[in-house]
Order: sequence, then structure tokens, then C-alpha cells
Amino acid sequence: MTTRGRFLTLEGVDGAGKSTHVKWVAEELRHAGLTVRMTREPGGTELGEKLRELVLHESMGLDAELLLMFAGRCEHLRQVIEPALARGEWVVCDRFTDATYAYQGGGRELGAERVAVLESWMRPALQPDRTWLFDVPLEVARARLADARTPDRFEREGAEFFQRTRDAYHARARQYPDRIRVIDSSRPKDVVREELRGEVRALLDAYA
Ligand SMILES: Nc1ncnc2c1ncn2[C@@H]1O[C@H](COP(=O)(O)OP(=O)(O)OP(=O)(O)O)[C@@H](O)[C@H]1O
Ligand SMILES: [Mg+2]
Repeated sequence: MTTRGRFLTLEGVDGAGKSTHVKWVAEELRHAGLTVRMTREPGGTELGEKLRELVLHESMGLDAELLLMFAGRCEHLRQVIEPALARGEWVVCDRFTDATYAYQGGGRELGAERVAVLESWMRPALQPDRTWLFDVPLEVARARLADARTPDRFEREGAEFFQRTRDAYHARARQYPDRIRVIDSSRPKDVVREELRGEVRALLDAYA
């Protein structure tokens, strides 16, 4: 029987460094002989990428935004994540449900309860096996994004939105201390990478 794969997620506010490290994590796992599926949210499927364009750039009400996040997630789970895990692949995902608790629950102030209703409605009820929360203060995130690209709907929000989002991420980390590891991502990339190397090794020792 095929051993089920593991589901790993990278989280954090815009500019925290998720995309910088996600490919490297996938490569490390591949070097260890695993088959790895790298993906992202919003997105990850044809429909999901279309929804991503909408939620990042189209003006809409807060509930619509929340529902679209979960609509995309349902398809992502059904088409990509769950089948890959069942085949024994490891899935590395740039953002997942913790991001909805942080951005829509915290940043948009819809509250964790409202997000939890939709999470409980999703099938299968899948939690990541490990989540790395890349944590940076506002000034650091802003400075990094300023050089990087044109801001989307979330990146145009003010300091209070950012702080609520970061606080909600911290609340998730306190709630799930065994699953979520907070990585101080204000340090130089190579220092962050070394910490991540230890994290990946520990996972491989535990599961592979
Ligand atoms: N530790 C670091 N030190 C300095 N710069 C960094 C560090 N980590 C990432 N960066 C830079 O910050 C910018 C944003 O990083 P990245 O795109 O990885 O963030 P992200 O978390 O994926 O953001 P988003 O959620 O907006 O996609 C990039 O230009 C990246 O090179
Ligand atoms: Mg990114």
C-alpha cells in the first residue's frame, strides 16, 4: 500500500519570504527521494488561478472575498492536494487556510468563527502536517515589497490591516503550537534558510 504523503504549508504576510523559500523546500525534499508537488493559494488549479486574479485585483464585498477563497480551496483540495497525497506525494503549498484566518478573519475583521464555519464545511477536513509561519514586522515587509512589484488589493491596505493580519497569524501559532513553527524572517535569507534546513531534516527523520 502507498504511504500517504505529507502536507506542508508556508504562511506569512506579503513580503515575508514565502515564495523565496518554497522552491528550495521542494528541492530539498526531492533530493531526499520524495515526489513533491509544489502549489499555491489562492490558485493551484485553472479555476483557482482565475479566482486569484479576481480576489487580488477586483473590488468586492468582504463575504464574497471570503467565499471565493474557500471556493478555490475546495477545487484545489479535490483536484490537486488530496489526489497527490493519496499517491504518496508530498505537497508544499504557499499559503493555505491559516492565511484566510489571518487576512479575512484578522485583517478584514470577519472573525475566526466565520472562517471556521467554512473550514468545517470543506471536504476532506485536511490540516497541514507542518506549517512554517514567516514572521516579519511591517517596516521590513513594506521595504521588501516596495522594490518587488505593483501592489495588489491586500498590499495596498494600511498598517492597521497588516497588524491585524500578523496578530491573527500569531493567534493561530499559539493555538496550534505543534503544527505551526514561527520563523523570524527579518533575518538574512541564508540564516532563515539554515533554520529551514533543520526543520526539513527533522520532518524527513520523522516521516520519510
Ligand atoms: N530574509 C530576507 N532578507 C531580505 N530580503 C528578503 C528576505 N526574504 C525575502 N526577501 C525579499 O523580499 C521580497 C518578498 O519576498 P517573497 O516574494 O518571498 O515574499 P512572499 O512572502 O512570497 O510575499 P507575497 O505574499 O506577497 O507573495 C523579495 O524581493 C525577496 O527577495
Ligand atoms: Mg509570494
